[in-house]
Amino acid sequence: MKKPSHLLFLSALICLPQLSYAEKVIAPANDIEYPKHLTNWRVISTSIRNDNNTQRVILGNALAVKAARAETKKIAWPNGAILAKLVWKNETLPTWQAATVPGDFVHAEIMVRDTKKYATTGGWGFARWTGLELTPHGKDSSAAQACFDCHQAAKATDYVFTQPAKLP
Ligand code: HEC
Repeated sequence: MKKPSHLLFLSALICLPQLSYAEKVIAPANDIEYPKHLTNWRVISTSIRNDNNTQRVILGNALAVKAARAETKKIAWPNGAILAKLVWKNETLPTWQAATVPGDFVHAEIMVRDTKKYATTGGWGFARWTGLELTPHGKDSSAAQACFDCHQAAKATDYVFTQPAKLP
């Protein structure tokens, strides 16, 4: 009787740390899964919006970054490419007033390239998650329509506004 309980204790010890590091479950938005390891993706560009006092980084998965950095006249986004935008409120750096730094996190947005699946929205699937807890935004695909409507302004560049920042 003694042996099994020891074993139980041991296996509990081994399992506990794994449980506490279990990945947070994030609900999909517009039937699109929140990409794993998004925060490890590389930067394509950054932007600042003066009308709502926010700053953003635009990231891409490996396929998107490769396409963005290819020296072509017009970027050819391959199927499977995902662009992400992380948005923060602007905040003044307390130790240097002239510096503006990321404050509260606002939302994460992605555009998933699939010309077949998302043919009605320019070949991109649109999804947004709000706040650090990444709450899915929008009840149904009409939310994606609103995204696509505004992205019409970037129709000439396949509905993508971002131009990759020049790298040295
Ligand atoms: C009112 C206009 C507007 C709406 C609505 C809008 N966007 Fe955008 N989006 C922009 C602009 C302008 C940029 C480029 C400037 C910037 O970085 O914010 C952009 C940039 C992006 C980018 C980075 C790639 C790119 O196109 O530059 C993603 C990803 C993105 N939006 C996703 C979304 C998603 C998802 C939604 C809907 C939930 C959405 N957008 C709704 C205007 C809009």
